[in-house]
Amino acid sequence: MTEKYLLILFYSASGAVKNLAHALADGAEELGLDVKIRTVPKVSPNTELTDPSVPKEGETYCSKEDLLNCSGLALGSPTRFGSMAAPMKHFLDSTGDLWATHALEDIPGCAFTSTGSMHGGQEVTLMNLLTYQLHHGMVIVGSPYSIEEINKTQSGGTPYGPSHVESFNSSPTLTPDEYKIAHKTGMRMAKIIQKLNAKS
Ligand SMILES: Cc1cc2nc3c(=O)[nH]c(=O)nc-3n(C[C@H](O)[C@H](O)[C@H](O)COP(=O)(O)O)c2cc1C
Repeated sequence: MTEKYLLILFYSASGAVKNLAHALADGAEELGLDVKIRTVPKVSPNTELTDPSVPKEGETYCSKEDLLNCSGLALGSPTRFGSMAAPMKHFLDSTGDLWATHALEDIPGCAFTSTGSMHGGQEVTLMNLLTYQLHHGMVIVGSPYSIEEINKTQSGGTPYGPSHVESFNSSPTLTPDEYKIAHKTGMRMAKIIQKLNAKS
């Protein structure tokens, strides 16, 4: 039997989405699920400019195999002009071969994001990331209202997925409610992955 793991794939320029990625990981690991946290390189208007294949610091870049073999996918990007950031889109646009072979079909997926401002487009970005997953035939996992912090958060955290609002505390640091929403969403992903793979 192959190893089961949740792939947490994110891009983050200033740390907020990275903090959400680690909060999701804490939740999934708490239930005993293996987690791989991966990122993607920056893109440049000059397409001949590339990063080294291994980043100088931080998380490893995601490989096609990381994505192909995952049992669940949490996809995170900052909101940029109401959409996902170009480096994430660039990576996702390279996965046409996985789409053509239905490689990600039936795999649970969720999304997370961060914005500068409260109404800066969180839900649109989350739906953007989830739309990618729908095209691949994945099973969408949200952050339901049974997560009590969803009902009282004053900043980020939506039923469409965990999030952070940077202007709330002028920092990429998550509020306690934002952390708990991401943590519990990581736990929910782990529970669903474990249920789906119980007999395989
Ligand atoms: C080019 C660019 C576009 C942005 N567009 C938006 C936006 O549409 N709405 C918003 O609220 N914040 C916007 N922001 C702010 C980021 O979403 C915010 O700083 C986010 O927390 C960054 O996440 P990170 O720390 O993981 O990089 C934008 C930032 C940049 C650099």
